[in-house]
Amino acid sequence: MCGIVGYTGKREAKEILIKGLKNLEYRGYDSAGIAVLDKNRLKVIKRKGKIKNLEELVSKTSFSGSSGIAHTRWATHGVPSDKNAHPHLGCKKRIAVVHNGIIENFESLKKDLLKKGCKFSSDTDTEIISHLIERNYHQNLEEAVRKTVLLLKGSFSLAVISKDEPGKLVGVRLDSPLIVGIKDEEKFLASDSSAFIEDTRRVVYLKDREIAVLTPDSVKVIDFQGRKVSFKEELLSFSKEEVKKGVFKHFMLKEILEQPKVLEKILSYYLKEKDFNLKELTAFRDFFKKLQKINIVACGTAYHAGLVGKYLMEKFLNIPVEVDLGSEFRYKQPTIRKGDLLIAISQSGETADTLAGVRLAKKRGAKILSICNVLGSTLVRESDKVLYTLAGPEISVASTKAYSAQIMVLVILSLYLAKLRRTLPDSLINSYLNLLRKIPSCQLKIVKSKDEIRKIAQKYLNFGAFLYLGRNINYPTALEGALKLKEISYIPAEGYPAGEMKHGPIALIDEYRAVVCIANNSSVYSKMLSNVEEIFARRGRIIILATEEDEQVKKYSRQIIYIPKIKEELSPLITIIPLQLLAYYIAELKGYDVDKPRNLAKSVTVE
Ligand code: M6R
Repeated sequence: MCGIVGYTGKREAKEILIKGLKNLEYRGYDSAGIAVLDKNRLKVIKRKGKIKNLEELVSKTSFSGSSGIAHTRWATHGVPSDKNAHPHLGCKKRIAVVHNGIIENFESLKKDLLKKGCKFSSDTDTEIISHLIERNYHQNLEEAVRKTVLLLKGSFSLAVISKDEPGKLVGVRLDSPLIVGIKDEEKFLASDSSAFIEDTRRVVYLKDREIAVLTPDSVKVIDFQGRKVSFKEELLSFSKEEVKKGVFKHFMLKEILEQPKVLEKILSYYLKEKDFNLKELTAFRDFFKKLQKINIVACGTAYHAGLVGKYLMEKFLNIPVEVDLGSEFRYKQPTIRKGDLLIAISQSGETADTLAGVRLAKKRGAKILSICNVLGSTLVRESDKVLYTLAGPEISVASTKAYSAQIMVLVILSLYLAKLRRTLPDSLINSYLNLLRKIPSCQLKIVKSKDEIRKIAQKYLNFGAFLYLGRNINYPTALEGALKLKEISYIPAEGYPAGEMKHGPIALIDEYRAVVCIANNSSVYSKMLSNVEEIFARRGRIIILATEEDEQVKKYSRQIIYIPKIKEELSPLITIIPLQLLAYYIAELKGYDVDKPRNLAKSVTVE
């Protein structure tokens, strides 16, 4: 949540900052601002709304400078407005600060500052930081920042500049991501490297409790005690093309269509011709053999992938698997203990609740295996082992390609564990692996019928509520389909296990209710069809997902989306594609800003 960019170098900072903000806009988009050191004054421009509003204002204002900071906001304290937008200044306007995170003790610090005569110009928690740094400032910015962060409780990443030290840019990281970008005589700071990927792929991932001190020619990192720490420069694995929309109207559509390629990449990375290629897990082989139970923790879409993982692992390994939302796991009395495995699933690797779950499990002696998309993320650093989802940057707030990538990794992991624990015969494992290799082409086939799905979207656009029904391993698909629709089209949508309908939700059904039924060939096909029959009898308006050549379903609806035939256990990798497309087209046809739905941000780094 919130995106930070910082720059120091030789070029016009405002242009680099605005470009960086645009690449980070998925992190928050209720307001934005920049501060540039223009000769010896801090020029601050802030605007409510999307970054294009800020860009317009910047282009009409005359100022110039080669160092500065910028921010795109997702409001926590204080409504979205010009005054609450970052950067924030101290009373003497000598220090400018942008912040991502939450300062939990800001009220007591603010009270104290008010008593000392500080004047506040916003309702944010962030503003106390600029006042404190200004008060701690004695001709040494990094020292003033260091003294200040020792007073703060909460999670934060910061970028700070001072009018008294031109060219110096200070960044701080604590439980919120911050990355340094390095290019000859220019340095960058950002919440995500996509902000500066067009300029450099050389990065340093800051660790918690580290302070980066940057000038155009130097990088220094110190800890909160002021001691110099060594750092490692790395090279980003993705290219600048991957963060561009290209010919697509929205990132979401681009990312949906990328899924076959992503899955091929995962298959060729984690499988050899006739075996697994999971060297990452070699050191865990004995531990895996002794496992008595598995816990999974995740949020949102990643949680739905975790639910699919539960079905797979319980079936293939015959051991109990508990799946929890990070926000619930962290406050319940989890039974996890030494010798257990926690699998944490996260696209960003920065989700606060998932990380809290990981930390709790670690404290109890569990080992952490994460399934994550982002190199250098907090989750990756805090895990014992990592399986990357290799999906490339996912920009659209609604997660799509990360979901099927997470499921693909979970299928491979489950089969690998089944082989290790000898819970499935090798012949069956091999036949699953062969089928897995066919999944990308199955996805491709569905993607090619996207115009048909768009026609269905057009017919169902004006329904006031949707119900998604699935059973067994496709119950999570129903949950995920409903989440996709509600988050980008704002239509109330609920995912339900079809067998539960009679226990309440069937009361909702009438001719005004759109019901998406996942009725692919499976062990529960006939049960699912009975549920479809019940909806049909109550005049619900049905969209059916069925397997190619299924004639029976024609009785219930003319809106049928056919999908290729595949074994039930692998079907979530396919059934989700039409649901993602349906949600996308409904939102697109309604004219919504699909990639940046209201009230949301891509990575939820606060609780
Ligand atoms: O980065 P993560 O996978 O940890 O994010 C978890 C959720 O915040 C995320 O999946 C969210 O639900 C998406 N907006 C869903 O499309």
